[in-house]
Amino acid sequence: MPNRFGKLFSITTWGESHGPAIGVVVDGCPPLLPITAAEIQAELDRRRPGQSDITTPRKEADSVEILSGVYEGRTTGTPISMLVRNTDQRPGAYSEMKQAFRPSHADFTYQTKYGIRDPHGGGRSSARETIGRVAGGTIAKKILALSGGVELRAYITRVHDIAMPADALGDAFPSVEAIEATPVRCPHGPTAEAMIERIKAVRSQGDSVGGVIECRVRNLPVGLGAPVFDRLEADLAKAMLSLPATKGFEVGSGFDGTLLKGSEHNDLFENREGRVRTATNRSGGVQGGISNGEELVFRVAFKPTATILQSQPTVDLEGNPTDLMGKGRHDPCVVPRAVPIVESMAALVLVDHWMRHAAQNRTFNF
Ligand SMILES: Cc1cc2nc3c(=O)[nH]c(=O)nc-3n(C[C@H](O)[C@H](O)[C@H](O)COP(=O)(O)O)c2cc1C
Repeated sequence: MPNRFGKLFSITTWGESHGPAIGVVVDGCPPLLPITAAEIQAELDRRRPGQSDITTPRKEADSVEILSGVYEGRTTGTPISMLVRNTDQRPGAYSEMKQAFRPSHADFTYQTKYGIRDPHGGGRSSARETIGRVAGGTIAKKILALSGGVELRAYITRVHDIAMPADALGDAFPSVEAIEATPVRCPHGPTAEAMIERIKAVRSQGDSVGGVIECRVRNLPVGLGAPVFDRLEADLAKAMLSLPATKGFEVGSGFDGTLLKGSEHNDLFENREGRVRTATNRSGGVQGGISNGEELVFRVAFKPTATILQSQPTVDLEGNPTDLMGKGRHDPCVVPRAVPIVESMAALVLVDHWMRHAAQNRTFNF
Protein backbone atom coordinates (compact mmCIF):
# COMPACT_ATOMS: atom_id res chain seq x y z
CA MET A 1 0.00 0.00 0.00
CA PRO A 2 1.86 3.19 -1.09
CA ASN A 3 1.80 5.90 1.57
CA ARG A 4 4.33 8.30 0.07
CA PHE A 5 3.58 11.41 -1.99
CA GLY A 6 6.09 13.59 -3.84
CA LYS A 7 9.45 13.02 -5.53
CA LEU A 8 12.10 15.42 -4.20
CA PHE A 9 9.94 16.94 -1.43
CA SER A 10 7.87 14.07 -0.09
CA ILE A 11 5.56 13.11 2.72
CA THR A 12 4.93 9.61 4.06
CA THR A 13 1.83 9.46 6.25
CA TRP A 14 1.24 6.66 8.76
CA GLY A 15 -1.23 5.54 11.41
CA GLU A 16 -4.87 4.55 11.80
CA SER A 17 -7.72 6.70 13.04
CA HIS A 18 -8.31 4.55 16.11
CA GLY A 19 -4.72 3.58 16.83
CA PRO A 20 -2.64 5.38 19.45
CA ALA A 21 -1.29 8.04 17.08
CA ILE A 22 -1.13 9.25 13.50
CA GLY A 23 1.68 11.13 11.77
CA VAL A 24 3.96 11.99 8.90
CA VAL A 25 7.61 11.93 7.83
CA VAL A 26 8.59 14.85 5.59
CA ASP A 27 11.67 14.10 3.49
CA GLY A 28 13.70 16.41 1.26
CA CYS A 29 13.01 19.61 3.18
CA PRO A 30 15.83 22.12 2.71
CA PRO A 31 17.85 22.96 5.84
CA LEU A 32 17.62 26.28 7.73
CA LEU A 33 13.89 26.85 7.16
CA PRO A 34 12.44 28.56 10.25
CA ILE A 35 9.43 26.53 11.47
CA THR A 36 7.75 26.02 14.83
CA ALA A 37 5.26 23.52 16.19
CA ALA A 38 2.91 26.48 16.79
CA GLU A 39 2.78 27.26 13.05
CA ILE A 40 1.91 23.65 12.27
CA GLN A 41 -0.61 23.57 15.12
CA ALA A 42 -2.41 26.63 13.73
CA GLU A 43 -3.11 24.80 10.46
CA LEU A 44 -4.06 21.58 12.24
CA ASP A 45 -6.57 23.59 14.27
CA ARG A 46 -8.27 24.62 11.00
CA ARG A 47 -8.62 20.91 10.12
CA ARG A 48 -9.44 19.40 13.48
CA PRO A 49 -12.88 18.07 14.40
CA GLY A 50 -15.07 19.86 16.93
CA GLN A 51 -13.95 23.32 15.78
CA SER A 52 -17.48 24.67 15.20
CA ASP A 53 -21.14 23.72 15.38
CA ILE A 54 -21.20 22.65 11.69
CA THR A 55 -18.44 20.01 11.99
CA THR A 56 -18.31 16.62 13.69
CA PRO A 57 -18.53 16.99 17.49
CA ARG A 58 -15.64 14.51 17.85
CA LYS A 59 -13.27 16.26 20.30
CA GLU A 60 -9.63 15.87 19.33
CA ALA A 61 -7.02 18.47 20.28
CA ASP A 62 -4.78 17.16 17.46
CA SER A 63 -1.67 18.45 19.26
CA VAL A 64 1.41 18.04 17.11
CA GLU A 65 4.81 16.88 18.41
CA ILE A 66 7.90 17.36 16.24
CA LEU A 67 10.15 14.35 16.83
CA SER A 68 13.03 15.03 14.46
CA GLY A 69 14.46 17.26 11.75
CA VAL A 70 14.07 20.62 13.54
CA TYR A 71 16.75 22.12 15.80
CA GLU A 72 16.34 25.45 17.61
CA GLY A 73 13.40 26.43 15.41
CA ARG A 74 15.03 25.63 12.06
CA THR A 75 14.97 22.56 9.84
CA THR A 76 18.19 20.53 9.70
CA GLY A 77 17.68 18.96 6.25
CA THR A 78 17.03 15.55 7.82
CA PRO A 79 13.64 13.77 7.86
CA ILE A 80 11.04 15.71 9.84
CA SER A 81 8.84 13.33 11.80
CA MET A 82 5.62 14.65 13.33
CA LEU A 83 3.10 12.86 15.51
CA VAL A 84 -0.45 13.55 16.72
CA ARG A 85 -1.90 11.29 19.42
CA ASN A 86 -5.48 10.07 18.99
CA THR A 87 -7.30 10.90 22.21
CA ASP A 88 -11.04 10.59 21.50
CA GLN A 89 -11.41 6.99 20.35
CA ARG A 90 -14.81 5.34 20.77
CA PRO A 91 -14.43 2.05 18.91
CA GLY A 92 -17.95 0.96 19.95
CA ALA A 93 -19.42 3.84 17.94
CA TYR A 94 -18.40 2.07 14.73
CA SER A 95 -19.71 -1.42 15.57
CA GLU A 96 -22.04 -1.36 12.53
CA MET A 97 -18.96 -1.43 10.27
CA LYS A 98 -18.09 -4.91 11.54
CA GLN A 99 -21.44 -6.31 10.38
CA ALA A 100 -22.11 -4.69 7.01
CA PHE A 101 -20.58 -2.51 4.32
CA ARG A 102 -21.42 1.16 4.81
CA PRO A 103 -22.83 2.62 1.55
CA SER A 104 -20.35 4.76 -0.45
CA HIS A 105 -17.59 4.09 2.07
CA ALA A 106 -14.25 2.31 1.74
CA ASP A 107 -15.36 -0.84 3.63
CA PHE A 108 -16.23 -3.16 0.70
CA THR A 109 -13.25 -2.34 -1.52
CA TYR A 110 -10.73 -2.29 1.35
CA GLN A 111 -11.98 -5.61 2.77
CA THR A 112 -12.01 -7.29 -0.66
CA LYS A 113 -8.56 -6.03 -1.61
CA TYR A 114 -6.66 -6.64 1.63
CA GLY A 115 -8.75 -9.31 3.34
CA ILE A 116 -8.07 -7.63 6.68
CA ARG A 117 -9.45 -4.38 8.01
CA ASP A 118 -9.54 -2.50 11.28
CA PRO A 119 -13.25 -1.73 11.47
CA HIS A 120 -12.77 1.04 14.04
CA GLY A 121 -13.40 4.30 12.24
CA GLY A 122 -12.03 3.44 8.80
CA GLY A 123 -8.35 2.73 9.53
CA ARG A 124 -6.17 4.16 6.75
CA SER A 125 -9.28 5.26 4.81
CA SER A 126 -10.22 7.64 7.60
CA ALA A 127 -9.91 11.37 7.01
CA ARG A 128 -7.68 11.48 10.10
CA GLU A 129 -4.91 10.38 7.72
CA THR A 130 -5.00 13.93 6.32
CA ILE A 131 -3.48 15.25 9.57
CA GLY A 132 -0.07 14.23 8.21
CA ARG A 133 -0.77 15.99 4.93
CA VAL A 134 -1.62 19.25 6.71
CA ALA A 135 1.45 19.02 8.97
CA GLY A 136 3.71 18.44 5.94
CA GLY A 137 1.81 20.94 3.82
CA THR A 138 2.35 23.68 6.41
CA ILE A 139 6.10 23.28 5.96
CA ALA A 140 5.62 23.44 2.18
CA LYS A 141 3.52 26.60 2.55
CA LYS A 142 6.28 28.21 4.62
CA ILE A 143 8.86 27.40 1.92
CA LEU A 144 6.59 28.96 -0.71
CA ALA A 145 5.96 32.06 1.39
CA LEU A 146 9.69 32.64 1.91
CA SER A 147 10.47 31.93 -1.76
CA GLY A 148 9.03 34.90 -3.58
CA GLY A 149 5.97 35.44 -1.41
CA VAL A 150 3.86 32.68 -2.95
CA GLU A 151 0.41 32.71 -1.30
CA LEU A 152 -2.29 30.04 -1.37
CA ARG A 153 -5.95 30.59 -0.55
CA ALA A 154 -8.58 27.88 -0.60
CA TYR A 155 -12.21 28.65 0.22
CA ILE A 156 -15.66 27.23 -0.35
CA THR A 157 -17.63 28.37 -3.38
CA ARG A 158 -20.53 25.92 -3.13
CA VAL A 159 -22.40 23.89 -0.52
CA HIS A 160 -25.13 21.69 -2.00
CA ASP A 161 -26.97 24.07 -4.40
CA ILE A 162 -25.89 27.27 -2.61
CA ALA A 163 -23.13 28.89 -4.67
CA MET A 164 -21.14 32.08 -4.17
CA PRO A 165 -22.13 34.57 -6.95
CA ALA A 166 -19.55 34.45 -9.76
CA ASP A 167 -18.69 38.15 -9.31
CA ALA A 168 -18.62 38.05 -5.48
CA LEU A 169 -14.84 38.47 -5.24
CA GLY A 170 -14.15 40.32 -8.48
CA ASP A 171 -10.41 40.22 -9.14
CA ALA A 172 -9.57 40.46 -5.43
CA PHE A 173 -7.46 37.77 -3.83
CA PRO A 174 -9.56 36.77 -0.79
CA SER A 175 -8.03 37.54 2.59
CA VAL A 176 -7.47 34.93 5.29
CA GLU A 177 -9.72 37.05 7.54
CA ALA A 178 -12.62 36.92 5.07
CA ILE A 179 -12.25 33.14 4.65
CA GLU A 180 -11.96 32.47 8.38
CA ALA A 181 -14.75 34.94 9.28
CA THR A 182 -17.28 32.09 9.36
CA PRO A 183 -16.87 28.38 10.17
CA VAL A 184 -17.91 27.46 6.62
CA ARG A 185 -14.88 29.25 5.10
CA CYS A 186 -16.71 31.01 2.27
CA PRO A 187 -15.35 34.58 1.96
CA HIS A 188 -18.72 36.03 0.85
CA GLY A 189 -20.72 36.77 4.01
CA PRO A 190 -24.32 36.38 2.76
CA THR A 191 -23.50 33.12 0.93
CA ALA A 192 -21.64 31.82 3.98
CA GLU A 193 -24.69 32.38 6.18
CA ALA A 194 -26.95 30.53 3.73
CA MET A 195 -24.45 27.64 3.56
CA ILE A 196 -24.33 27.36 7.36
CA GLU A 197 -28.13 27.25 7.54
CA ARG A 198 -28.23 24.51 4.90
CA ILE A 199 -25.63 22.39 6.74
CA LYS A 200 -27.53 22.76 10.01
CA ALA A 201 -30.82 21.86 8.29
CA VAL A 202 -29.51 18.65 6.70
CA ARG A 203 -27.79 17.67 9.94
CA SER A 204 -31.07 17.99 11.82
CA GLN A 205 -32.56 15.55 9.26
CA GLY A 206 -29.69 13.08 9.84
CA ASP A 207 -28.47 13.85 6.32
CA SER A 208 -25.39 15.37 4.65
CA VAL A 209 -24.30 17.62 1.77
CA GLY A 210 -21.15 18.15 -0.32
CA GLY A 211 -19.64 21.17 -2.01
CA VAL A 212 -16.82 22.78 -3.98
CA ILE A 213 -13.51 24.28 -2.85
CA GLU A 214 -11.70 26.76 -5.06
CA CYS A 215 -7.96 27.30 -4.56
CA ARG A 216 -5.92 30.21 -5.91
CA VAL A 217 -2.14 30.63 -5.77
CA ARG A 218 -0.39 33.88 -6.62
CA ASN A 219 3.22 34.92 -7.21
CA LEU A 220 4.24 31.59 -8.72
CA PRO A 221 7.17 31.70 -11.15
CA VAL A 222 6.86 30.66 -14.79
CA GLY A 223 8.20 27.13 -15.33
CA LEU A 224 6.82 24.73 -12.71
CA GLY A 225 5.60 21.48 -14.26
CA ALA A 226 6.49 19.47 -17.34
CA PRO A 227 4.95 18.95 -20.78
CA VAL A 228 4.09 15.24 -20.68
CA PHE A 229 3.17 13.00 -17.73
CA ASP A 230 4.12 15.34 -14.90
CA ARG A 231 2.00 18.25 -16.03
CA LEU A 232 1.42 20.61 -13.12
CA GLU A 233 -2.35 20.25 -13.41
CA ALA A 234 -2.05 16.45 -13.60
CA ASP A 235 -0.08 16.31 -10.37
CA LEU A 236 -2.51 18.74 -8.72
CA ALA A 237 -5.41 16.58 -9.89
CA LYS A 238 -3.78 13.49 -8.38
CA ALA A 239 -3.11 15.36 -5.13
CA MET A 240 -6.70 16.54 -4.86
CA LEU A 241 -8.35 13.30 -5.95
CA SER A 242 -6.20 11.44 -3.41
CA LEU A 243 -8.28 13.18 -0.71
CA PRO A 244 -11.19 11.20 0.73
CA ALA A 245 -14.65 12.19 -0.54
CA THR A 246 -13.41 14.03 -3.66
CA LYS A 247 -15.29 13.48 -6.89
CA GLY A 248 -14.06 16.13 -9.30
CA PHE A 249 -11.17 18.42 -10.27
CA GLU A 250 -11.02 21.27 -12.75
CA VAL A 251 -8.46 23.92 -13.58
CA GLY A 252 -9.15 27.44 -14.88
CA SER A 253 -12.33 27.56 -16.96
CA GLY A 254 -12.81 23.84 -16.25
CA PHE A 255 -15.96 22.13 -17.45
CA ASP A 256 -17.68 25.50 -18.11
CA GLY A 257 -14.97 26.28 -20.67
CA THR A 258 -16.63 23.79 -23.00
CA LEU A 259 -19.49 26.29 -23.39
CA LEU A 260 -17.17 28.80 -25.11
CA LYS A 261 -15.67 28.95 -28.60
CA GLY A 262 -11.90 29.18 -29.07
CA SER A 263 -12.25 32.85 -29.99
CA GLU A 264 -13.95 33.46 -26.64
CA HIS A 265 -11.73 31.15 -24.59
CA ASN A 266 -8.18 32.04 -25.67
CA ASP A 267 -6.04 33.94 -23.16
CA LEU A 268 -4.42 36.65 -25.27
CA PHE A 269 -0.79 37.50 -24.55
CA GLU A 270 0.24 41.08 -23.85
CA ASN A 271 3.29 42.92 -22.61
CA ARG A 272 2.46 44.37 -19.21
CA GLU A 273 5.21 46.41 -17.56
CA GLY A 274 7.89 44.46 -19.41
CA ARG A 275 6.47 41.04 -18.58
CA VAL A 276 4.59 38.63 -20.83
CA ARG A 277 1.14 38.28 -19.27
CA THR A 278 -2.25 37.07 -20.41
CA ALA A 279 -5.21 39.44 -20.58
CA THR A 280 -7.55 36.76 -19.17
CA ASN A 281 -6.82 33.61 -17.16
CA ARG A 282 -9.07 30.85 -18.46
CA SER A 283 -5.99 28.61 -18.49
CA GLY A 284 -5.95 28.88 -14.69
CA GLY A 285 -2.22 29.64 -14.62
CA VAL A 286 -1.06 26.51 -16.50
CA GLN A 287 -0.34 26.12 -20.19
CA GLY A 288 1.21 23.01 -21.71
CA GLY A 289 1.49 21.54 -18.21
CA ILE A 290 3.78 24.37 -17.03
CA SER A 291 2.94 27.36 -14.83
CA ASN A 292 2.73 30.59 -16.86
CA GLY A 293 3.08 33.07 -13.98
CA GLU A 294 -0.61 33.93 -13.78
CA GLU A 295 -2.70 32.93 -10.78
CA LEU A 296 -3.08 29.18 -10.44
CA VAL A 297 -6.83 28.51 -10.11
CA PHE A 298 -8.45 25.13 -9.59
CA ARG A 299 -11.57 23.64 -8.01
CA VAL A 300 -12.28 20.39 -6.19
CA ALA A 301 -15.71 18.75 -5.76
CA PHE A 302 -16.50 16.88 -2.52
CA LYS A 303 -19.43 14.49 -2.27
CA PRO A 304 -22.04 14.52 0.53
CA THR A 305 -20.67 12.74 3.62
CA ALA A 306 -21.26 9.02 3.20
CA THR A 307 -22.33 8.33 6.78
CA ILE A 308 -25.82 9.65 7.42
CA LEU A 309 -27.90 9.05 10.52
CA GLN A 310 -30.61 7.25 8.58
CA SER A 311 -31.29 3.59 7.92
CA GLN A 312 -30.15 2.49 4.45
CA PRO A 313 -30.20 -0.88 2.69
CA THR A 314 -26.85 -2.60 2.13
CA VAL A 315 -25.33 -6.09 2.38
CA ASP A 316 -23.54 -7.81 5.26
CA LEU A 317 -20.05 -9.29 5.02
CA GLU A 318 -21.48 -12.49 3.45
CA GLY A 319 -23.43 -10.51 0.84
CA ASN A 320 -26.89 -10.91 2.43
CA PRO A 321 -29.25 -7.92 2.26
CA THR A 322 -29.55 -5.97 5.50
CA ASP A 323 -30.24 -2.43 6.73
CA LEU A 324 -27.63 -0.18 8.27
CA MET A 325 -28.14 2.84 10.51
CA GLY A 326 -25.22 5.30 10.56
CA LYS A 327 -23.74 5.86 14.01
CA GLY A 328 -20.84 7.76 15.51
CA ARG A 329 -19.93 11.42 15.17
CA HIS A 330 -19.71 12.63 11.60
CA ASP A 331 -19.36 15.81 9.59
CA PRO A 332 -22.70 16.75 8.00
CA CYS A 333 -20.52 18.43 5.34
CA VAL A 334 -16.79 17.61 5.09
CA VAL A 335 -15.98 20.63 2.93
CA PRO A 336 -15.20 23.33 5.57
CA ARG A 337 -12.58 21.10 7.23
CA ALA A 338 -11.13 20.17 3.84
CA VAL A 339 -10.08 23.77 3.05
CA PRO A 340 -6.67 23.60 4.83
CA ILE A 341 -6.14 20.09 3.42
CA VAL A 342 -6.56 21.35 -0.16
CA GLU A 343 -4.11 24.20 0.51
CA SER A 344 -1.62 21.73 1.99
CA MET A 345 -1.79 19.31 -0.92
CA ALA A 346 -1.36 22.18 -3.39
CA ALA A 347 1.68 23.45 -1.47
CA LEU A 348 3.24 19.96 -1.44
CA VAL A 349 2.87 19.67 -5.23
CA LEU A 350 4.26 23.15 -5.85
CA VAL A 351 7.35 22.76 -3.64
CA ASP A 352 8.11 19.37 -5.18
CA HIS A 353 7.81 20.81 -8.70
CA TRP A 354 9.86 23.86 -7.74
CA MET A 355 12.69 21.60 -6.53
CA ARG A 356 12.44 19.40 -9.64
CA HIS A 357 12.53 22.48 -11.86
CA ALA A 358 15.64 23.78 -10.10
CA ALA A 359 17.35 20.36 -10.17
CA GLN A 360 16.97 20.04 -13.93
CA ASN A 361 17.36 23.65 -15.03
CA ARG A 362 19.48 25.42 -12.42
CA THR A 363 22.10 22.89 -11.26
CA PHE A 364 24.75 23.09 -14.00
CA ASN A 365 26.28 26.07 -15.82
CA PHE A 366 26.53 25.47 -19.56
C1 LIG B 1 -12.06 16.50 6.30
C2 LIG B 1 -12.86 15.26 6.01
C3 LIG B 1 -13.73 14.76 6.98
C4 LIG B 1 -14.49 13.62 6.72
N1 LIG B 1 -15.36 13.18 7.68
C5 LIG B 1 -16.19 12.15 7.39
C6 LIG B 1 -17.20 11.75 8.33
O1 LIG B 1 -17.33 12.32 9.41
N2 LIG B 1 -18.00 10.71 7.98
C7 LIG B 1 -17.90 10.06 6.79
O2 LIG B 1 -18.68 9.15 6.53
N3 LIG B 1 -16.96 10.42 5.88
C8 LIG B 1 -16.11 11.43 6.14
N4 LIG B 1 -15.15 11.81 5.23
C9 LIG B 1 -15.06 11.08 3.94
C10 LIG B 1 -14.61 9.63 4.04
O3 LIG B 1 -13.35 9.52 4.63
C11 LIG B 1 -14.63 9.01 2.64
O4 LIG B 1 -15.81 9.31 1.99
C12 LIG B 1 -14.45 7.51 2.69
O5 LIG B 1 -13.17 7.19 3.19
C13 LIG B 1 -14.63 6.83 1.32
O6 LIG B 1 -13.76 7.38 0.36
P1 LIG B 1 -14.30 8.05 -0.98
O7 LIG B 1 -15.47 8.92 -0.59
O8 LIG B 1 -13.15 8.86 -1.49
O9 LIG B 1 -14.71 6.95 -1.92
C14 LIG B 1 -14.37 12.95 5.47
C15 LIG B 1 -13.50 13.46 4.50
C16 LIG B 1 -12.74 14.61 4.74
C17 LIG B 1 -11.83 15.15 3.68
